Amino acid sequence: MTPSDPDPIYLDHNATTPVAASVLDAMLPFLRGEYGNPSSGYALGRRAKEAVETARAQVAALIGADAGNIVFTSGGTEASNLAIRGTVRRLGGRQKIVTSTVEHPATDEPCNRLACDGHALHRVPVGPDGRIDVAQATTAIGAGAGLVTLIHAQNEIGTLQPVAAIAQEAHRHGAVMHADAAQSVGKIAIDVKALDVDLLSIAGHKLYAPKGIGALYVRDGIALEPVLLGAGQENGRRPGTENVASIVALGEACRLAASRLPQAQTTIRPLTDELFARLQKEVPGLTRVGHPGERLPNTLNVLFPGVSGREVLNACPAVFASTGSACHADREEASPVLRALGIPEREALGAVRLSLGFDTTAAQIANAAAALADAWRRVAHAPAARAV
Ligand SMILES: Cc1ncc(COP(=O)(O)O)c(C=O)c1O
Repeated sequence: MTPSDPDPIYLDHNATTPVAASVLDAMLPFLRGEYGNPSSGYALGRRAKEAVETARAQVAALIGADAGNIVFTSGGTEASNLAIRGTVRRLGGRQKIVTSTVEHPATDEPCNRLACDGHALHRVPVGPDGRIDVAQATTAIGAGAGLVTLIHAQNEIGTLQPVAAIAQEAHRHGAVMHADAAQSVGKIAIDVKALDVDLLSIAGHKLYAPKGIGALYVRDGIALEPVLLGAGQENGRRPGTENVASIVALGEACRLAASRLPQAQTTIRPLTDELFARLQKEVPGLTRVGHPGERLPNTLNVLFPGVSGREVLNACPAVFASTGSACHADREEASPVLRALGIPEREALGAVRLSLGFDTTAAQIANAAAALADAWRRVAHAPAARAV
């Protein structure tokens, strides 16, 4: 980019979001004069404690929970680790964990570690639309599951999983149900009672709070073995002096999200569809990945034909977006999530994930579609093209 180029168009809101203005305003006092430790008994500490409790109520309100059900963590990864490892340790013995083939590493890796420690791990496959096979999940859960952990909205493709139906099966068989809602909270309405989950992970930086703050919803009566050991903060479930400024930020982000959720459906969803329609018109053979209806309003994962998505994005500095692929020893490997949907490696390498936010405009969508299509034409028609 040169100084005369227009600002790049940020279409990577599933990677992270900017901190909203009201969120920054809410947290700043706690980085300045209001620096008390919530455990301190004098006025400065009491004000910090009150701010933490106000934020707890704000987070709870967004997901239909009570304030006492919210445990603050350092983010989505820690929330899911606490849910998964904390449940298995509390249950004791050898447990069976049921999950899917399209989980985020924040779930996959603790599950892998538990499998190494001798627990049984069952990954239920998904269909071509990215939805878990409910019949296979039901069978796996019925065969003695202690914990079921499922991503609510898949971060790469936006597909929503039938969490409530799976939770019903989990509870019928006495298993604990965890949902990783890092991508869905703040984008669609979430009600923990309707989802019927015992545990639900939240990641602040996906909903306009800063990075490094998150929360775990813990249903009444669900006990967890803490993963971190220390003092008694968060009712002994997550020790460590509270990150007051970021907790306040998460509370405000949740309040803001509640007020903006209708906009996600009325504005963001049509813009996402508009982006797909424009790309489809300009790029013959371009396809969309994921479930057509059961999906996040802001997420568009497309397969550019005959090229790699990385090449398209490298040729398109005007648009900030992601591919699901990874580079290993100079070789590009397709996203394991797309491979789990049955998409052949060669096609999956063409993936680009475009994720919109509350700040995305119609003009940005038109410009991004034109720039991406132009980049695709240049890459596809370059003499060295078709490396994939
Ligand atoms: C679905 C999902 N779960 C968990 C996480 C991890 O959250 P955090 O970055 O707050 O640790 C992410 C972030 O990319 C995510 O998309």
